[in-house]
Amino acid sequence: MTSFILNDRNYTTKLPPGAVTLDLLRKEAGLTGTKEGCREGDCGACTVLLGIPLEQGIKYMAVNSCILPIAELQGRHLVTIEGVNPKEGLSSIQKIFVEEGASQCGFCTPGIIMSLTGYLLSTIDPDDAGATGSLGGNICRCTGYVSIKNAAKTVSGITGHSPAGSCHSREHLEWLVENGIIPPYFLEIEEKLQAMDTYESFGLDANVSGRTVTVAGGTDLFVIEAEKLKNANLRLLSKEKRMNGISITDGRAVIGAAATIRDIIDSGIFSNSGNLERSLDLVSSAQIRNRATVGGNIVNASPIGDLTIIFLALDSRLRIVNGSDYREISLKNFYKGYKLLDLSPGELLESLEFPEPDLKTSINFEKVAMRKHLDIASVNSAAVFRTNDEVIENADISAGGVAPVPLYLAGTSAAMSGMKISTDTAKFAVRTACNEVSPIDDVRGSAAYKKLLLGKLIAAHFVELFPGLVDGEKLL
Ligand SMILES: Cc1cc2nc3c(=O)[nH]c(=O)nc-3n(C[C@H](O)[C@H](O)[C@H](O)COP(=O)(O)OP(=O)(O)OC[C@H]3O[C@@H](n4cnc5c(N)ncnc54)[C@H](O)[C@@H]3O)c2cc1C
Ligand code: FES
Ligand code: FES
Repeated sequence: MTSFILNDRNYTTKLPPGAVTLDLLRKEAGLTGTKEGCREGDCGACTVLLGIPLEQGIKYMAVNSCILPIAELQGRHLVTIEGVNPKEGLSSIQKIFVEEGASQCGFCTPGIIMSLTGYLLSTIDPDDAGATGSLGGNICRCTGYVSIKNAAKTVSGITGHSPAGSCHSREHLEWLVENGIIPPYFLEIEEKLQAMDTYESFGLDANVSGRTVTVAGGTDLFVIEAEKLKNANLRLLSKEKRMNGISITDGRAVIGAAATIRDIIDSGIFSNSGNLERSLDLVSSAQIRNRATVGGNIVNASPIGDLTIIFLALDSRLRIVNGSDYREISLKNFYKGYKLLDLSPGELLESLEFPEPDLKTSINFEKVAMRKHLDIASVNSAAVFRTNDEVIENADISAGGVAPVPLYLAGTSAAMSGMKISTDTAKFAVRTACNEVSPIDDVRGSAAYKKLLLGKLIAAHFVELFPGLVDGEKLL
């Protein structure tokens, strides 16, 4: 059984912990305002809010209910479109959508309202870019995005800045209630959650079946095999303390394998690292970033995993655990072939560690995909340069989509050492990188196209990071 708060009431379900939340909402709870579109985390029609109790306050986030296992709901607050409706009339966001004519058939509208409500719940400083960015995971087939974007901008403007110190605080919720964004019952949820069993006390449902599956964010697993997972035991890494958390100690940054992309952005660990933080905001969508973990990205072993490519260039080491045993391995040596890992049954990736980026470190990530949001890359690349007085002391460059595994460009990286930053050096890096890879033709493009893309991305690293020293026009 799984117990949680659904909108304003306590709710217990006997549905298997591996079934997805969308089915609970529509088929069991009769809350059909949450729509079913793709069931793959792609369209955003099923967006709901998940409220996770913290030591103080609640952290709310927009998530895709079609890939959210019910087990994740234990002891948490689940909010659907019905749960943001005021007793009478419309919420402030809903009113704006009517005024801006931002809804036609209405199928996508509940998901969009939930994404924007989630955005306002997760920031004290809303702005136009953040509001429109929060809709990167919501697809509309009929209204057209201009009026939806206009509505999103109006939403960010109506509230101004929250007087609260933190978006997880009661003061922030009070401010949203005052502004008609959420109903007043939100203010009672923290106390109600304190009275509920947490996942730890509820534990795994050992009777479901013999198969135990490790789930981090589930954004890969529940797209690929949701039906099979319905009756499996789930080991939820989101609930394991040692796998969460982000810290910097003695010049080394440590990121728990279950840290999400959102956690990484919020930690500010890359706030001084060039465009990296902004690039992370372009990975997938807000809903996916709220759930997708760094560990899942690395273990998934996709040759084009965005986080894997970034952490390869950061020269990361992995801490792998098996019960109380552990070992460490460089991420560069983790991949043995297409989807083949140095990870035995029973082993888990616990965390990764890399040198803390300092002021001499410049980091850049580039990605080419069919569309800006919600798409895996055709080719991606990350570069980390340590420079001194316009000379490259050390370079680590990685590339995805050009080999069966996420690739550390060892030859190109080594060749950069000691070179003066200039347009010629950038051209040399482009040539060296293109000679180092042997991509194959596949659905994402021909081998020649991928080499060409890689060259452009390597050039882009230099142009982005060293604009005064490298002439982008001459690199074209
Ligand atoms: C709509 C959509 C858009 C996406 N866009 C992008 C994108 O732009 N860029 C990108 O890189 N990816 C993208 N993805 C893919 C996915 O979100 C990422 O790969 C994500 O990081 C996977 O992490 P997760 O925590 O959800 O993994 P899960 O699905 O939970 O797990 C993936 C695999 O890793 C295993 N696993 C997870 N954590 C551990 C661990 N600590 N130790 C051992 N095994 C573990 C699981 O058992 C499973 O086999 C997208 C996915 C969707 C659905
Ligand atoms: S139904 Fe499309 S994202 Fe969930
Ligand atoms: S209003 Fe019809 S899909 Fe968006």
